[in-house]
Amino acid sequence: MIPPISGFSKLTKKEKIDWLAETYLKDQPEDVRILRQYWNEDSHLQQLHDEFTENTLSNFYLPFGLAPNFLINDELLALPMAIEESSVIAAASKAAKFWRTRGGFKAEVIDTQKIGQVHFTYPGDSGKLTNFFEYVKPKMIEAVKPITKNMEKRGGGILNIELKDKTESLNNYFQLHCTFDTQDSMGANFINSCLEKFADVFQDEAKEFEAFSNEEKQIEIIMSILSNYVPHCLVRAEVSCPVEELSEDDQMSGQEFAEKFLQAIKIAEVEPYRAVTHNKGIMNGIDAVVLATGNDFRAVEAGIHAYASKSGNYTSLSHAKVEDGLFIFSMEIPLALGTVGGLTSLHPLVKLALDILQQPSAKKLMKIVAVAGLAQNFAAVRSLTTTGIQQGHMKMHLMNILNQQNATREEKLTLTDYFKHHTVTHSSVIEQLEKLRLQ
Ligand code: MEV
Repeated sequence: MIPPISGFSKLTKKEKIDWLAETYLKDQPEDVRILRQYWNEDSHLQQLHDEFTENTLSNFYLPFGLAPNFLINDELLALPMAIEESSVIAAASKAAKFWRTRGGFKAEVIDTQKIGQVHFTYPGDSGKLTNFFEYVKPKMIEAVKPITKNMEKRGGGILNIELKDKTESLNNYFQLHCTFDTQDSMGANFINSCLEKFADVFQDEAKEFEAFSNEEKQIEIIMSILSNYVPHCLVRAEVSCPVEELSEDDQMSGQEFAEKFLQAIKIAEVEPYRAVTHNKGIMNGIDAVVLATGNDFRAVEAGIHAYASKSGNYTSLSHAKVEDGLFIFSMEIPLALGTVGGLTSLHPLVKLALDILQQPSAKKLMKIVAVAGLAQNFAAVRSLTTTGIQQGHMKMHLMNILNQQNATREEKLTLTDYFKHHTVTHSSVIEQLEKLRLQ
């Protein structure tokens, strides 16, 4: 068995790599070379990346691409997307192009409240706790003034603090349920700092509260943390057009397309196995823009999937209908995003992504990200209900195989043309390439 290592984080980067190579990689110089190959030659830039996290050995690239032609609330934007999956950016661009000539995307922010909670136990009379809460609330708000001062100047701050009795779910369990407005910042540090201060004041003041018995004075703080469930930080995106304008060729009428599309959405609304994949397609667009703009995609994922199950059943995030001959496709999702703080001013590519998006406010970024999700979903469901998804994927697959075989530009053009009418498999591509090379 490999012995554990202590003090790994204290080693230099070289020492960490040496230890890794010796311990897990049979000391292969090739592995070490790969790690070093991905270092940036600009040592300052490399150090910046090293320090984003801990125990950094190298960088892990994701393609950074662009989906142009997004008409969003009458403004034409190009969306930066960081994603490794083939076809996603192509699909987004295709959906953007389709909707640009049909009125574009409309998006609106419904609300921007973020939530944080202090979870605690209190073994006593809940009426006394309510009185204590009313007494201590102004003291808690006063105590966080040094933290909230700047946020208040920017128009944000604490919106509300509620005491919630959760004892029906868990013995002695109560919480301070706090609502915040963090303006253009994602606000995680701001919210967590406020919560920890609230918790300190709450616990300390309880010890001095005369109406409490000795036992009641022993409020125990379990934890203080923001919630990634943000059902009141909501944005809505929509596209619509007359049904007959949905058709692009004579293969399918607008009416036929709308009927099939609506049926596909209904299936995702009632069938969780489909809903998860359907929503995964939405997340392809959302995560790519969230990542490119330096936001926390895990938080966004967690919050959105929780929202998708808010009825008790996991269901589709997007919905479609036809009303008076108008096809309407829309989605409402929770999104807690920031355009200041965090990585936004640190990561050069994130700064660039925000420049590409014309330095959006957090609210504007919410709209853009929701649109990216809706566009991606439209493109996926459109392919699924018409050509099938493999057609597009196979084109990329073909390119990957040709690149692996070091195909020239001419070979790629000839074979792309050939495979428009033939099925792509690994062996068929190799066979055609060999034939071509023998000619
Ligand atoms: C693949 O990454 C995403 C899709 O599966 C989404 C969908 O099925 O709607 C194509």
